[in-house]
Amino acid sequence: MRFSSPENEAVALAEAGEFAPLKIGPLAVWPPVVLAPMAGVTNYPFRSLCREYGAGLYVSEMITARAYLMGHRRTLLLASSQPDETPRSVQIYGTDPKDVGEMARSLVDEGVHHLDMNFGCPVPKVTRAGGGSAIPVKPRLLARIVRAAVKNAGSVPLTIKVRKGIDDALLTFLDAGRVAQEEGAAAIGLHARTAAQLYSGEADWNAIGELKSRLSIPVLGNGDIWESFDALRMMRATGCDGVIVGRGCLGRPWLFRELAEVFDGREPAQPPDLGGIVAILKDHARRLVAFFGEREGLLHMRKWCAWYTKGFPGSASVRDSLSRLNTFEDLERELARLNPREPFPRSALRAHRAKGSRVQTVALPENYLCSRDDDTPPRSIHSSEDLEEWERSLSGG
Ligand SMILES: Cc1cc2nc3c(=O)[nH]c(=O)nc-3n(C[C@H](O)[C@H](O)[C@H](O)COP(=O)(O)O)c2cc1C
Repeated sequence: MRFSSPENEAVALAEAGEFAPLKIGPLAVWPPVVLAPMAGVTNYPFRSLCREYGAGLYVSEMITARAYLMGHRRTLLLASSQPDETPRSVQIYGTDPKDVGEMARSLVDEGVHHLDMNFGCPVPKVTRAGGGSAIPVKPRLLARIVRAAVKNAGSVPLTIKVRKGIDDALLTFLDAGRVAQEEGAAAIGLHARTAAQLYSGEADWNAIGELKSRLSIPVLGNGDIWESFDALRMMRATGCDGVIVGRGCLGRPWLFRELAEVFDGREPAQPPDLGGIVAILKDHARRLVAFFGEREGLLHMRKWCAWYTKGFPGSASVRDSLSRLNTFEDLERELARLNPREPFPRSALRAHRAKGSRVQTVALPENYLCSRDDDTPPRSIHSSEDLEEWERSLSGG
């Protein structure tokens, strides 16, 4: 019997030829699946783990152009990769055309194969300064930034990722799509929520269909792919060219194997039991420690432990101890308390991870809406102090 939630029990597997590889410039991505850029999450260790399960495109977390250009050590680490990562994909965050152009050129020189740009970040500190999801409010500014990045990326394809808009009264995604297409972006990804919604409610897949109907460049749909069959449903419902998977893979990197299976017309294998998950979790921990060093790697593991064990009956007290973990011994000792034969709980399939259900009133710069035709870039980061404060405030898109 299929291991899925009720809404996906009767969804048909992909038929041969039903879906095509996702074309992003010269790249042909099969299955048409992209790992969403996620701050604090999609570093090289997690990308490499996901890639071992499936195929597709695995995007880095957002990398701030100013910090990258200033040679900030941590930023360079987060932007880094290893020779086995092909295609290599980096998401740029920037508000100044000159910066993003310089960063694009430098990444191309480093050998990157795909660039994405973040125009969806809803974090108050970012939008209040006119960045992230505030940029598409000014289509001419968006155009300037995308133009500079595309020009400097040369033959490397560049995509942009946006939200529906600021809130229901200020939708920007159709303008953003037009700009992306006019300025030579290879595709556009739409997280079908507004910045005001943050991660709450259901993503509005109709908006993805609407965007697709207006554009000739590929459209990537994003929002609420929790199970592999959701991806088939989204593509059938919207006609989009590929899907971007965010929170659904947190603590579930095998979702990429399941996605590869359903797009190839095969029933996905059963998810691992708790013993299998513990093995994956330890593998993930080793990768994080190798990349960040023991102290920081294990700090990262605190949140991963919560995501990997989410929904397993009787795991709450272990989760609680793991949220304070400091050493590999702590990790081994607490994991040994779990029952390895516990099957993956169906209720955990659609359990939300990482972000709550808060909504917000989006902060914009004063009088921002009076100058929507203005293409002047907002003030960017200049000093290291600014930079450090900025990095602390980031948490994505
Ligand atoms: C922890 C976290 C960090 C994120 N960081 C970024 C980011 O750096 N850049 C970006 O464009 N979006 C970021 N996002 C948004 C995701 O890429 C994605 O658009 C969103 O989670 C919706 O997809 P989902 O419903 O599949 O989770 C982040 C989301 C999460 C949960």
